[in-house]
Amino acid sequence: MCWIFAYVWTEDCRKNLVEWLRMLEYRWYDSAGLICVWEEKEIFLEKAVGRVSALASKVDEKIEKEKNEQSWLFTSWIAHTRWATHGGVTESNTHPHYSGSQRFYIVHNGIIENYKELKKSLETKYTYYSETDTEVVAKLIEDMYDGNLKSTIEKVSEKLTWAYSLAVIDVQHPEHIIAIKLWSPLIVWKGENGVYLSSDINALSQLTESFTILEDNEMVVIESKKYHIYMAWERVQREAEEVGEVSSMSELWDFSSFTEKEIFEIPSILENVFSGRINFEEKIIHNETLEVLAEEEIEKICIIASGSSSFAWWVGGYFFRKYAGVPCETIISSEFLADIFLPEKKTLYVFLSQSGETADVRESMKIVKAKGCKTFGIVNVVGSTIARMSDAWLFSHAGIEVGVASTKNVIAQVGVLLLMALSFGSKRNLQISEIRDIITELASLPDKIQEVCLKAPHIRKLSEKYAHYKHFFVLWRNMMYPVALEASLKIKELSYVHSEAYSAWELKHGPLALVSPEFPTIVFNPSGKHYHKTISNIEEVRAREGKILGFISKNDTHKEVYTDCIELPDTSELLSVFTSLTASYLFALYLAEKLWRDVDKPRNLAKSVTVE
Ligand code: AGP
Ligand code: GLU
Repeated sequence: MCWIFAYVWTEDCRKNLVEWLRMLEYRWYDSAGLICVWEEKEIFLEKAVGRVSALASKVDEKIEKEKNEQSWLFTSWIAHTRWATHGGVTESNTHPHYSGSQRFYIVHNGIIENYKELKKSLETKYTYYSETDTEVVAKLIEDMYDGNLKSTIEKVSEKLTWAYSLAVIDVQHPEHIIAIKLWSPLIVWKGENGVYLSSDINALSQLTESFTILEDNEMVVIESKKYHIYMAWERVQREAEEVGEVSSMSELWDFSSFTEKEIFEIPSILENVFSGRINFEEKIIHNETLEVLAEEEIEKICIIASGSSSFAWWVGGYFFRKYAGVPCETIISSEFLADIFLPEKKTLYVFLSQSGETADVRESMKIVKAKGCKTFGIVNVVGSTIARMSDAWLFSHAGIEVGVASTKNVIAQVGVLLLMALSFGSKRNLQISEIRDIITELASLPDKIQEVCLKAPHIRKLSEKYAHYKHFFVLWRNMMYPVALEASLKIKELSYVHSEAYSAWELKHGPLALVSPEFPTIVFNPSGKHYHKTISNIEEVRAREGKILGFISKNDTHKEVYTDCIELPDTSELLSVFTSLTASYLFALYLAEKLWRDVDKPRNLAKSVTVE
């Protein structure tokens, strides 16, 4: 969730200090801070509430002001972007945090669950300037310092509970940075100008071709031009891993936001998802991972995910039931953690996560693995924790997703789940002819999505017409259920407007009371077996003067029932999931833009939720 970056080298970092900070611009956070340490124990500590660019501007100013007085040949620096868990969004709560004597500086990603008792045990010795759990660790390091920072941190870490990664600098030995990791991700690599530490595989992938990913309970000691890794405090030798397909962040081009750009990428993303996994000439699915999996004695699929990924798996549940004839249970990861887990040996547990680091999903996987059950990961970040923990995994090929609200990756996840369901079906009772028909349809899907994207001006106009409403119903039936849930979430997280996904059938059993001219209804009503019944539900809304925005097929035969409509390419019910989702993303995006929201970095949210 937050982002740690550390660097040890004596080299004039003036130019890249700000450049690297701006590389984090896409990771919206509450605040950011950094400390630079020079040999003579000079330090430069800067913090700023808000975006990384606020901090970068302060650093720019400092460099400009002092460019002649002070060389920027400092020894090491640590930067941190904070997503607040303990203490408000203030400069005093911004990392780095420091010990009583201001000798030790620390940045931290995650939470320290037992910080309150630790804080109380030290309050007679130290005064606290912040409300954070992190500051307590800085005080504890000083309190337990035995002359050797490594052994001190070993002892301190034994007192801490729950997920964290943290990095520490001793200003008296700035050529050392020590970091430890439990759950929250941490990678390290040696570049030509220094040794780097990062808690984000994507953010600095432009700086290296390979890095070492720390395992839980590992410590890395960076000493000037090299680093060593220790597990349970014994030195371990581990090779760097290739960075794989982590794409570097690309430019905005002429889009208004990364979120808009990523929605327009969906046609090409789907081509990525299918390429190398579908042979469109022979109309077969060929992917070794899926084939091996489909051969296994699996009687049920259980899909576990959070947020938008959970709506992707909901669609996946339909696919497995419909095309593979395999029962599919769908559980939100936080609910999985709250429930009793009854392991099923012939169930495949699928974990869906864009970041591959979501705490609820990781914890769920830990529980499933501990019972010896089969796990499968579908992630978008190579080398992420969930990928590395899975028995097998597939990459969703969505490319780096900068917008905090996930869009293109959800579509990619749905595409991968469809391939999985078809692959399973091909080893069970799904007719070859049916698979060939679906593959024929999928060949046209990128073009259909492109057609939806070309409707962006019309969708923008409608979103502006509906931008003054304070509430929306989003109605669904059957396979459109997860589409409505996801569309509703996107409206909430991008525009901060209340939206409620509801079964079209169920509206009359109570919620219809909310319908009024001021409470419009969005309805997904593609052609298909539920079309006519949904028309009846729409008539019930119209009878109460409710306005209806329909996401419909361009061949819809009852267009008169909608107040306004977004006509989508005529497709099967299966493909209408993809076209409806894409259109709903554009609607939510333009609604948010009309309301002057920061669509790439919605308030209160983070791209990867690495705390439970
Ligand atoms: C996506 O729009 C949301 N910001 C959020 O719900 C996200 O989908 C959820 O946190 C899961 O993230 P993951 O896919 O990286 O695990
Ligand atoms: N728990 C720490 C805080 O609230 C770190 C949160 C984060 O991961 O950014 O400052």
